[in-house]
Amino acid sequence: MSPNVKYSLYTLGAIATIGFIYLFAFYLPQLFIPESREIEGIVKVGELGSSLVPISSKRVKELGMNSDISNLDIEIDAEIQAKKSNEVERLIFVGDIHGHYVEFRKLLRQVKFNPETDHLLVMGDFITKGPDSLKVLDYLIDHDIDCIFGNHEYYVMNNYATFHGLKSPHFMNETNEMLSIKDGGFNSDPEFLLAKKLQPKHIKYINQCTIIKKLGQVPFHKFNDRKDLKVGGDSNSLPGYAVHAGLRWDLSIEDQEPIECLEMRSYIGPNFNETTDDPDTDNAVSWSKIWNSKQKIAAKKDAKIIYYGHEARRGLNLRKYSKGLDSGCDGGGKLSAMVIWLQEALNSKGKPVTLYREQVHQVSCK
Ligand SMILES: *[C@@H]1O[C@H](CO)[C@@H](O)[C@H](O)[C@H]1NC(C)=O
Ligand SMILES: *[C@@H]1O[C@H](CO)[C@@H](O)[C@H](O)[C@H]1NC(C)=O
Repeated sequence: MSPNVKYSLYTLGAIATIGFIYLFAFYLPQLFIPESREIEGIVKVGELGSSLVPISSKRVKELGMNSDISNLDIEIDAEIQAKKSNEVERLIFVGDIHGHYVEFRKLLRQVKFNPETDHLLVMGDFITKGPDSLKVLDYLIDHDIDCIFGNHEYYVMNNYATFHGLKSPHFMNETNEMLSIKDGGFNSDPEFLLAKKLQPKHIKYINQCTIIKKLGQVPFHKFNDRKDLKVGGDSNSLPGYAVHAGLRWDLSIEDQEPIECLEMRSYIGPNFNETTDDPDTDNAVSWSKIWNSKQKIAAKKDAKIIYYGHEARRGLNLRKYSKGLDSGCDGGGKLSAMVIWLQEALNSKGKPVTLYREQVHQVSCK
């Protein structure tokens, strides 16, 4: 072979190699990568935007809720008398679904969910782990269901950003300014497979979930009997908030740290002004336990009730000032919904009153 021919063969070989590398490493994969969507700032505090309209005991029964009232001499809150827009009959909060679509739908059938007259809020971690994350997402999107942002949504978004070469998820405060993320916050469990399948509409949906949601007034039970908390019982009301993991008792709603809101399980003693996601940390105490003791000593005007998820290990955890709704569906436990409504009744003197009521509904998970 002449050196010229040899040279031409080498050149051809080199061009072919580059061509193959381009084909397999860049061109072909691109055909399988779904179109991407930029990640926008995640909003820290959102409003529910719905208010409850009082419903009759008959309607309560129709909806499959417990309409029995044991003590009719309860005071009415003036606030609920004012007419507001976006009135709904019920607020329904669902704990960590984790891709368990079948059970989610079963639970919604059990509570006779109607998107027209109910405001449904999922408490974060609705995707990952279970079998049908995409089906859950599509259902949430198609029924315009409200959501709280959970740590697993964060992990998936983070993977999505890596996969598509986008800016990582970040948080915004009330004035739409970016908040810094404390170092060492998130672990980065690979939830890459799901992230790769997400379409722009999925990212758009997850992106508009807020870290905290102001719920307006919610039932406040006079007694701390577990059964009472579960089936309604007699109640007045306090301001309610929804968050995936928990809130710091020593900070205002505006000053909460997004990452703590997504990951905390315990406060760290002796001052309980730090949090951890690891309950086995030294001096760690369940955040809800301390939260409840702090609310008890707060002036009534400052006390708050928190609805949250995240804590499968402690299961359904109903306390006076905190309601843990993650009952471990993913680990073969249950999927829980807390249903809240206003019920019209007559007190023992025959005077019409309106009561705050709530009731837990559950389905078993495989
Ligand atoms: C929002 O965050 C920015 C930057 O950290 C800060 O300067 C601003 O005061 C914050 N606004 C509110 C309302 O918290
Ligand atoms: C927690 O509170 C103690 C006592 O008030 C204080 O000395 C400490 O700096 C606080 N720690 C944090 C992380 O805020």
